Amino acid sequence: MAKAQLRFVCQNCGAVTNRWQGKCDSCGEWNSILEETDSGIGAQAARGMKKGRIFPLEGLSGTHTPAPRLISGINEFDRVTGGGFVPGSVILIGGEPGIGKSTLLIQASASLARRGERVAYISGEEAIAQVRLRAERLGLKDAPVELAAETGVEDIIATLSEGRKPGLVIIDSIQTMFTDTVESSPGTVTQVRGSAQALIRFAKRSGASVILVGHVTKDGQIAGPRVVEHMVDAVISFEGDGSHHFRILRANKNRFGPTDEIGVFEMTGDGLREVANPSALFLSSRDAAAAGTAVFAGMEGTRPMLVEFQALVAPSALGTPRRAVVGWDSNRLAMVIAVLEAHAGVRLAQHDVYLNVAGGLKISEPAADVAVAAALVSSLTGAHLPPEAVYFGELGLSGAIRPVVHAGLRLKEAAKLGFHGAYGPLKQLDANEAPLKIHPLSHISALVAQIAQQSTSNSKTR
Ligand code: TYD
Ligand code: MG
Repeated sequence: MAKAQLRFVCQNCGAVTNRWQGKCDSCGEWNSILEETDSGIGAQAARGMKKGRIFPLEGLSGTHTPAPRLISGINEFDRVTGGGFVPGSVILIGGEPGIGKSTLLIQASASLARRGERVAYISGEEAIAQVRLRAERLGLKDAPVELAAETGVEDIIATLSEGRKPGLVIIDSIQTMFTDTVESSPGTVTQVRGSAQALIRFAKRSGASVILVGHVTKDGQIAGPRVVEHMVDAVISFEGDGSHHFRILRANKNRFGPTDEIGVFEMTGDGLREVANPSALFLSSRDAAAAGTAVFAGMEGTRPMLVEFQALVAPSALGTPRRAVVGWDSNRLAMVIAVLEAHAGVRLAQHDVYLNVAGGLKISEPAADVAVAAALVSSLTGAHLPPEAVYFGELGLSGAIRPVVHAGLRLKEAAKLGFHGAYGPLKQLDANEAPLKIHPLSHISALVAQIAQQSTSNSKTR
């Protein structure tokens, strides 16, 4: 019989080494490597001890009855989950401390409880009095949410298995939970994994939706084992930064819905308020008369969203000019600069370039290329762009402006917010149907020429 082989497995990322190490080479986590024996499957099969049970295999077609989803009543939240919580599913919500996870979840709990669902809110971080105080401030005191400050997973599951089946269970946070089945202290990778496993099993068995709150490390990863992200049905992150009062809820993984939808909230004195019209919020403090700003007609999932790109191009005193980007991909910026240089004669090699998405939003669409190029050229030449126009389109390396998805929705949103013109890919804009004036562009050089023309007419009127 083959000798059982020893191997060492990182409990954080699953990397296998053949000797013990204090630090995992692949994920950098300390003290996460445990010894495991590889004997399990092979040895048992060799001994032929137990024969497997035979189960019927099924076809793809067949009947299924989707259980109705639990609608939280907070539209922006329901949009991100894909139309409400799925019974028996587990969602992991990550976010930096103080971003508003507990606030969002107590609001969702109260909203569901008021509609007759059994909702349990288990806080491992705050005392009952603290949670009550927050609920009172938010005007949610009367909602029949069942509250507990507990950290023992077995106790929590035993309690929730009593009485009526809970519709929603909030565990705030998974890092504070511990399970008796694992011998290590709370907060360790193995504990977090063990607790998550037990709670996921509880969700599947009972049909309750479980939401796990997860802390996020400095670099934006959900602290603790990455494996928890693989175990749950959906991973949602709650983002925003301290200097802005709006927050974005974003699905990073979702087995029951799309992953490109975002929910927008505003943190106010009485909790999180939904922002039904994010474009208006992101453009609210816009300085339209400044050079170097361009409004991008973007899309987040199925929702059009207008955001302002701000560029500052200034002569550089350094040998290697600086390029700094906030809210967009820096590689993409390098590409736009290269295309401007190569195909439109715009010289930026001696200039520092700073690019910022106003309001702290993060944009990942390539469709923003044209808006970025417009902002850069505007800042370089000092020409302000027409304040009532939006920009969109993807740049090819040849300098061609390429079509993007949902041009119609982008234009409609721009018209709704009072914009009169749009600069975008040539073929996509049908001037007869469009709700605003169309300026079709086929090549980056046309955009640059247009801005240069603007610059001369600006100086004439001055
Ligand atoms: P919290 O939900 O406790 O954050 P998390 O659970 O993600 O750590 O939110 C804490 C922050 O939100 C805190 O800095 C205060 C602010 N806040 C408000 O501005 N208004 C409110 O009504 C509430 C409840 C919190
Ligand atoms: Mg909290």
